[in-house]
Amino acid sequence: MKVPLINLTKQNQKILSEISSGISSIFEESRFILGKEVEEFEGNFASYCGTRFAVAVNSGTSALLLSLIAQGIGRGDEVITVPFTFIATVEAIIFSGARPVFVDIDERTMTIDADKIARAITPRTKAIIPVHLYGEVCDMNPLREIADKYNLSLIEDACQAHGAEYLPLAKKAGSMGDCGCFSFYPSKNLSAWGEGGMVTTDSEEIAKKVKMLRDHGSEKKYYHKMIGLNCRMEALQGLVLNCKLKYLDKWNERRRAIAHQYSEAFRDIEDICLPSSPPYSRGVYHLYVVRTAERDKLKNFLQEKGVGTGLHYPLPLHLQDSLRDLGYQEGALPVSEKTAREIISLPLYPEMEDTEVGYVIDAVREFFQ
Ligand SMILES: Cc1ncc(COP(=O)(O)O)c(C=O)c1O
Repeated sequence: MKVPLINLTKQNQKILSEISSGISSIFEESRFILGKEVEEFEGNFASYCGTRFAVAVNSGTSALLLSLIAQGIGRGDEVITVPFTFIATVEAIIFSGARPVFVDIDERTMTIDADKIARAITPRTKAIIPVHLYGEVCDMNPLREIADKYNLSLIEDACQAHGAEYLPLAKKAGSMGDCGCFSFYPSKNLSAWGEGGMVTTDSEEIAKKVKMLRDHGSEKKYYHKMIGLNCRMEALQGLVLNCKLKYLDKWNERRRAIAHQYSEAFRDIEDICLPSSPPYSRGVYHLYVVRTAERDKLKNFLQEKGVGTGLHYPLPLHLQDSLRDLGYQEGALPVSEKTAREIISLPLYPEMEDTEVGYVIDAVREFFQ
């Protein structure tokens, strides 16, 4: 048997017949960019997340970048985030003109360690970007307290957390910061047939600015109020995402069930550290990530057994060649560095068959026996 890390085909086949007439109408009318499909999706996604506004863009990276620019964050400013995330979080900060400042992660949750943030704040700090990694939300109450105390913007990187909930506030990821940023990259819990992203916010001003910024700084064609970019969502992606949104809760539930099965099956393995769903988070298992000192051997063993795995992420950002100019040395952010050496993601997607889940479990157990 072969079990890939992810298989998108089944899910996409499932919705094809549902949206075929919508595809035909986009094609027949040659309306490929923004338009009613995108607007409908924006409305439904805002309701789903519980925010007043949602502005669709062409990627999670754009969502992060435009969120920063819309809030006037740029040259001379500092933005706090983690080194243990996908590089897009930091690329957005750099392209806004601001400087990323790294705060290490908490060993247990693998998300930002709120206790270490105050030390990283300077008069130049303008924002914090917590990352809801692997689909578990960060502990938002302490982060909100810090943001309010130092008058900082709080921008949620919710690119991996569609539908995840922060239980103390009964709120969804993307609805607790000044804005939330989502990716609809094909492997995400809610995924496009290409690229896509969204900014969610309760601020009319941020929503309005992001809307202009995504379309060359204009509200009216060829009249440009600010310098923007082309970050518009395509009509086809609006159509696909709007259709898939109906199934998101059901798919997330299936992800949780598979994660639960894995965790039960691996509970007695001493050399493995299971993902800890913190008590404040109702996660959506974008990824199921275990930690083990034997990571590389486990990866090779599973590959031989036909089980696909991933490393999210093998090298923390402060040690990446592209970010060397920030001046961080090895040892500067030890929790991220250790975590990066030990993590391994196991196959997890809603369409996984029970037999496939069982096969992965047997293979992992065989390795540790
Ligand atoms: C945590 C995180 N931030 C940002 C992004 C960027 O999203 P996109 O690939 O849609 O630009 C991703 C997605 O890959 C991500 O996982």
